[in-house]
Amino acid sequence: MRKNLVAANWKMHGSKAGINRLLTAIKAELPSAGCEVLLCPPAVYLEQVQKELQGTQIALGAQNAYPGDEGAFTGEVAFAMLPEFDCSHVIIGHSERREIFAESDEFIAQKFAAAQEHGLTPILCIGESQTERENAETEKVVLGQLQAVLDKVGIAAFADAVIAYEPIWAIGTGLTASPQQAQEVHAVIRDFLSGQDQNIAEGITILYGGSVKGANASELFQQPDIDGGLVGGASLKAEEFITICKSFN
Ligand code: PGA
Repeated sequence: MRKNLVAANWKMHGSKAGINRLLTAIKAELPSAGCEVLLCPPAVYLEQVQKELQGTQIALGAQNAYPGDEGAFTGEVAFAMLPEFDCSHVIIGHSERREIFAESDEFIAQKFAAAQEHGLTPILCIGESQTERENAETEKVVLGQLQAVLDKVGIAAFADAVIAYEPIWAIGTGLTASPQQAQEVHAVIRDFLSGQDQNIAEGITILYGGSVKGANASELFQQPDIDGGLVGGASLKAEEFITICKSFN
C-alpha cells in the first residue's frame, strides 16, 4: 500500500509569530488527517517548527540543501545538517530552483543522491511549462527530468523517494490541472517506472502540486495515481491546509 501524503511548501514565507499561529491551528486539527502530513518551512525556522512538532505525527522537511557535507559554500545549508532538526524529507528540483537558480538536471540528481546519503527522503519535483504543454512535450519533459535522476542513482533509489508532478503553469497561478490532466501524467510517470521495476512503481507516492486548495483537493486525490499534494499558497492558510489534509477522510 503506498502512502498518502500532503506536504506544505511554505517557500520564502513566514515569521516566528505567524508560524506559531499556523502551527497552533494545524496541531489542533490534524491528528484526524487521513494521510501523512509534512511541513517544509524556510531553513531558519526548522528549529522552531521541530520543537513545535515534538510529540505530534506531523513530519518536518526542508525546501532545499546543498550537496557538500561542509566547506566554503557561503549561504548554503548542507543535507548533513538536516537530520539534526529531525527532518525526514527534502524537496529537490522545484521548478523555482530550476528556473530562478538555474539548477540543472545533473545538479538535481546530485542533490537527490546526497539527500539519501543522509537518510532523507527526497521529494523530486518534475513538470512542464505552459509552452511545453502546448507543444505536446509534457511527457518528454517530465520523463527527461526523471531519467536524469535515474541515470545517476538507479531505479532502486526510488524505493525511498517521493515524486511531485508540478506543472509550472499551475504553480501559484490559481490554474489547477484538471484531475484528468493530472492523472494522465501521473499514470505516465508510474508506467515509466514500472518498465524498470514494478514494485517500486506501485509503491511510490506521486504527489500533484500546482494550486491545490481545499475546494479541489478531494477530486484530485481520488484519482488512482495521485497520492497526495505538494501545496504552496494554500498551506499558509490554516483552514485551507487542514481541509486539504482531511480530503482523504
Ligand atoms: P502552489 O505551489 O500551491 O502555490 O501553486 C505549489 C508548489 O510550488 O509546490
